[in-house]
Amino acid sequence: MSAMEPTSGVSQEEKNKLCANGAATKVQVHLEGADSAKLGEVGETEDGKKITFQTGPPQSAPAGRRYKRRSRSLSQSSTDSNTSGSYSSYSEDEDEVSPRQKEQKNSKGSSDFCVKNIKKAAFGRREIQIAEQEMPGLMLLRSKVASEKPLKGAKIIGCTHITAQAAVLIETLSALGASIRWSACNIYSTQNEVAAALAEAGFPVFAWRGETEEDFWWCIEKCILADGWQPNMILDDGGDATHRMLKKCPETFKLVKGIVEESVTGVHRLYQLSKSGKLSIPAMNVNDSVTKVKFDNLYCCRESILDALKRTTDTMFGGKQVVVCGYGEVGKGCCAALKGLGSIVSVTEIDPICALQAAMDGFRVVRLEEVLKNVDILITCTGNKNVVQRHHLDRLKNACIVCNMGHSNTEIDVESLRTPELVWERVRHQVDHVIWPDGKRILLLAEGRLVNLSCSTVPSFVVSITACTQGLALIELFNAPQGRYKQDVYLLPKKLDEYVATLHLPSFDAHLTELSDDQAGYLGLNKTGPFKPNYYRY
Ligand SMILES: NC(=O)c1ccc[n+]([C@@H]2O[C@H](COP(=O)([O-])OP(=O)(O)OC[C@H]3O[C@@H](n4cnc5c(N)ncnc54)[C@H](O)[C@@H]3O)[C@@H](O)[C@H]2O)c1
Repeated sequence: MSAMEPTSGVSQEEKNKLCANGAATKVQVHLEGADSAKLGEVGETEDGKKITFQTGPPQSAPAGRRYKRRSRSLSQSSTDSNTSGSYSSYSEDEDEVSPRQKEQKNSKGSSDFCVKNIKKAAFGRREIQIAEQEMPGLMLLRSKVASEKPLKGAKIIGCTHITAQAAVLIETLSALGASIRWSACNIYSTQNEVAAALAEAGFPVFAWRGETEEDFWWCIEKCILADGWQPNMILDDGGDATHRMLKKCPETFKLVKGIVEESVTGVHRLYQLSKSGKLSIPAMNVNDSVTKVKFDNLYCCRESILDALKRTTDTMFGGKQVVVCGYGEVGKGCCAALKGLGSIVSVTEIDPICALQAAMDGFRVVRLEEVLKNVDILITCTGNKNVVQRHHLDRLKNACIVCNMGHSNTEIDVESLRTPELVWERVRHQVDHVIWPDGKRILLLAEGRLVNLSCSTVPSFVVSITACTQGLALIELFNAPQGRYKQDVYLLPKKLDEYVATLHLPSFDAHLTELSDDQAGYLGLNKTGPFKPNYYRY
């Protein structure tokens, strides 16, 4: 999400204030040797103990069915979260018995978990090992700070997508000394085999793909209300664990040292709590970290839009007419990718600055009405609602592919297509043909939900970056001396943002240039950073 994203509900002024708050912290990171990611202190514990990153190499890493309306009423984030989710097909273990009805034990005899099928653990472990290979920054962080155990004593409730990449984060937090209990933030995104592998490894995980609403909250409560285990940190994606804990155990909530939140929705909810005076503990907004915004929104979407379109439709991109609504970070990524493969891309924008950027990047800036009759692919990436309405959809040409990359499923008014004269045919998993009485059909992907998260996988490398920001935010909040963070929402200190990037440079054999003393003095910078002011836009 960019600083401009309207859905955050936070003014730029407030964000600047938050930046300033984040900058006021005394976190120190030393980059000793600009090209080797050798790192020094990142924080200090309450008793003044410094946390240092050790140098050295990383450890080896170990057709044809009619549409049925869904009637569940779930928290928005449980179905719409746009961070780090992952798609895998529904081919495995389709048995209908609820995991809550099954008695399962892992090989050590523990039953403190609830997953679809513990027998899939070996398959899940292989998935985790594959993810580790493509998450070099997170593995490097693990190897550098494992001996310091900066999370020793941390009892973390996690509520995130449960994917192979999330498992690498969970196992990293554990290696850094934390004890964890984990549930899913989204009822559709759990990789069952990965949840099984985590349960087999002894982690109390409560999640499976296709949870009901009741299951969803039950799983969260299994983490919050565990016998003899009192959480003191929350890692949330969407705000559901935070809000459930606040509601169910307000006294325990007060004892939590900090919340780390990564989603747009969850951050928005945190700012609302803060404004209403109900946020009694510090929280870190990692969603707006530079490394998260640039990599999750721009680079990740640049790759995953193509993957999602290809997997669902087998379409050829060369020569196709595409319209992308919104030229923010996500829109820029989508446009760049499609242009690169020879599509003829037009952009719609409401903001003259972004519109001018699109024009200067070589895209025609149009109103949607002007291109509807000719476009082969329509993609929304605005974070806004009702950008594509029924009157637009009525005018699209036959076989147009329609999909959404924005965070909620209201960018395209899909509900307006649920009228008696239109026939819905499910032609593939996540692909519907919506057919007009005259025979015209459009291909609607993922019923208007985020197409890349619903229909493709997210690159592990991008998740590695986000996971590092989450891990470092947890370390920072858990070890911060009393008074450094108040009952407010903070951004990750810039030093840590830079450190996240540094952790990922060795995998490209990228060599940073080191400032000379003279140059540092000239620019008024510390030689070890931060290298940019908080308002710098990258
Ligand atoms: N799919 C993913 O993996 C993924 C990843 C990150 C973010 N997101 C989501 O994608 C959305 C966009 O994110 P972003 O970082 O690009 O945000 P952004 O704020 O940088 O860009 C959104 C752009 O849409 C424009 N816009 C708003 N309403 C419009 C309208 N009616 N017509 C045309 N343009 C309009 C805005 O002016 C802005 O430039 C958000 O909802 C975000 O949460 C998705």
